[in-house]
Amino acid sequence: MTELTDISGPAAPPDPVAFPQDRTCPYHPPTGYDPLRDGHPLSRVTLYDGREVWLVTGYSAARALLADPRLSTERRRPGFPVPTRRFEAGRDRRVALLGVDDPEHHRQRRMLIPSFTVKRAAALRPWIQRIVDELLDAMIAQGPPAELVSAFALPVPSMVICGLLGVPYADHEFFEEQSRRLLRGPTAADTVEARNRLEDYLGGLIDAKAGEAEPGDGILDELVHERLRTGELDRDDAVSLAIILLVAGHETTANMISLGTYTLLRHPARLAELRADPALLPAVVEELMRMLSIAEGLQRVALEDIEIAGTTIRAGDGVLFGTSVINRDASVYDDPDDLDFHRADRHHVAFGFGIHQCLGQNLARAELEIALGSLFTRLPELRLAAPAQDIPFKPGDTIQGMLELPVTW
Ligand code: HEM
Repeated sequence: MTELTDISGPAAPPDPVAFPQDRTCPYHPPTGYDPLRDGHPLSRVTLYDGREVWLVTGYSAARALLADPRLSTERRRPGFPVPTRRFEAGRDRRVALLGVDDPEHHRQRRMLIPSFTVKRAAALRPWIQRIVDELLDAMIAQGPPAELVSAFALPVPSMVICGLLGVPYADHEFFEEQSRRLLRGPTAADTVEARNRLEDYLGGLIDAKAGEAEPGDGILDELVHERLRTGELDRDDAVSLAIILLVAGHETTANMISLGTYTLLRHPARLAELRADPALLPAVVEELMRMLSIAEGLQRVALEDIEIAGTTIRAGDGVLFGTSVINRDASVYDDPDDLDFHRADRHHVAFGFGIHQCLGQNLARAELEIALGSLFTRLPELRLAAPAQDIPFKPGDTIQGMLELPVTW
């Protein structure tokens, strides 16, 4: 018997599209996701190995699901959505915080919360300002022109996270390179090797700190002396925490500085607005976070059946969150593709939502406000030093950002 089709209901969900896809403009979601921006909060997408999983694109559904304990972040569970071959290769490795569910997640996060409060981030501002000023002094003394990623966008968060953790900045070339290979190495083997090297490096550092009679003043020193020695944390967990803090602490923020600068330079009227009213800076950072949504495709797997927005996610289904599309949900944001510093609703999901919401968000906001504010104040004539469309940006299977950013002034 032929089934009757109900033509009066909502249009059928779109056919699965491939995920992830490259952006066509570095500050807009990939045009390949346009079919997913039709009001359906969940769609099916196809991964590199042909497997289909859910992609959440609606704002309300995303907030509900990201706060739902029936979704797990444990990568080893069957059905966990693996977006790239590279990710599959590292899937059996221990990942602190982001790779564990409560109650273990809560246990780990509790140890770190005091180091990442709003108050702590505020207290760090003068120190971050000094780092930014010194980097700008050096760049101005050498230029123009300059390549902003290597001269500024990467060193600012790299120096900050090193100082905070107690990792020697002298080793920055080594760990920046391993982070790059971990997040977007050319092969799966390359990713595994990068992870091994980071583990060896940070494991060595943790052992050295454990051998010191008096703790230094970094977060890793605190973890070693207050948690490792007391048996509250084992060495593998300490190394895994150090990796996530070091990698998440510099890569993401560096990409926001480079892509944020590019986006502002591509919106001269908005930039003029910021220059005329520097008090807009916090709103500018928040709007750039929403618009750029650089961390795309947050990953979960369902532990039980979940009913949401008229759809059933089955136990064992993989669920991805398309932050770039979620943050442009037209039912929440008017003219969502516009850069608008006067939005009433700033509750984007660019830092995630729920128990895994970014631990470093207060620090990241402080760094972005100081870096972008100082850059445009010190260099009022700042502009791109190459045609905008020729400047390379990162592929869609990693954190979004600029590969290079040639500027002049
Ligand atoms: C603008 C820069 C940043 C962006 C866009 C960003 C984005 C995110 C997002 C989306 C998540 C949630 C992932 C998920 O739920 O699957 C997350 C988690 C996390 N972020 Fe960030 N992040 C940034 C900066 C930082 C910084 C500076 C740190 C410093 C330590 C950091 C450390 C972490 C950690 C440890 C987690 C895991 C938290 C948990 O599982 O409890 N991030 N970040």
